[in-house]
Amino acid sequence: MAIGVFDSGVGGLTVHRELTRRFPDRDFIYLADQAHAPYGGLNGERIVELTREGCARLFEAGASVVVLACNTASAIALRRLQQTWIPGERERLGRPVNVLGIIVPTIEAATGMPWTYEADRMGDKIEAIDITGVFCTAATAMSRVYEIEIDKRREDLAVFSEPCPGLAGLIELGATPEELKVVVDEHVDALRRRIGRHPDTAILGCTHYEIISDLFAQALPEGTKLINQPTSVADSLERYFERHPEYELGGSARRSFLTTGRAGPQTEMVSQFWGAPLSFDAA
Ligand code: DGL
Repeated sequence: MAIGVFDSGVGGLTVHRELTRRFPDRDFIYLADQAHAPYGGLNGERIVELTREGCARLFEAGASVVVLACNTASAIALRRLQQTWIPGERERLGRPVNVLGIIVPTIEAATGMPWTYEADRMGDKIEAIDITGVFCTAATAMSRVYEIEIDKRREDLAVFSEPCPGLAGLIELGATPEELKVVVDEHVDALRRRIGRHPDTAILGCTHYEIISDLFAQALPEGTKLINQPTSVADSLERYFERHPEYELGGSARRSFLTTGRAGPQTEMVSQFWGAPLSFDAA
């Protein structure tokens, strides 16, 4: 058995890399749905359907827990799959399986509050409003998940999402850093103009953007806090596995990388981020 990691493409590698550092002996299967990437502009039902198919493929390949290393799939599909699909899958496969998302750990990191915490709205004094900017896909922005969930926990954080349509697609296609810098600068500036100032904290709410986090860091003022999604997800998964010893996660440090798209080497930018050439097999 293994830990499955799913994304529309290469963005989930940012989470995968941190998870393999945290659980070096465990077996991992990565699945990129590159045949259908990017997800950010698809409609909700299609995102649910593709995410379900990806998880089913990972269970079939031997995953017991699948981490949706994709904000878009986590925002749109996770709850539906957990509530309406996973119970039947457990029965069908005759073993414990589950699918987990990456938004809960990110919100916990951004608010400093556990997921179970809900702010008391009985008139606490609000000394200051800090601004959290979320750079994400159009589908994640439209779900308003970050606005809703952060507001439930922290009245003093104002959240503004900046959809960056096309950016994940450019990263998938291997656009140059110069081309990507123009797009990142435009979005950081668009958010600044909308709010009237830069955010105090930024969430790169699309795993693809973590690959180019240096471009976001350069575009934002020095000192802007960046929430690190891969670390938050790894912390949370560590706690989850302590509470759930029933999942078999393998122990031979096996790594496999699958794609629904074209098998073969990934782009130069991915190799640079990964620190070595990386090739995907056909799913
Ligand atoms: N990497 C994904 C995310 O975190 C999906 C990007 C896309 O396919 O549009 O949202």
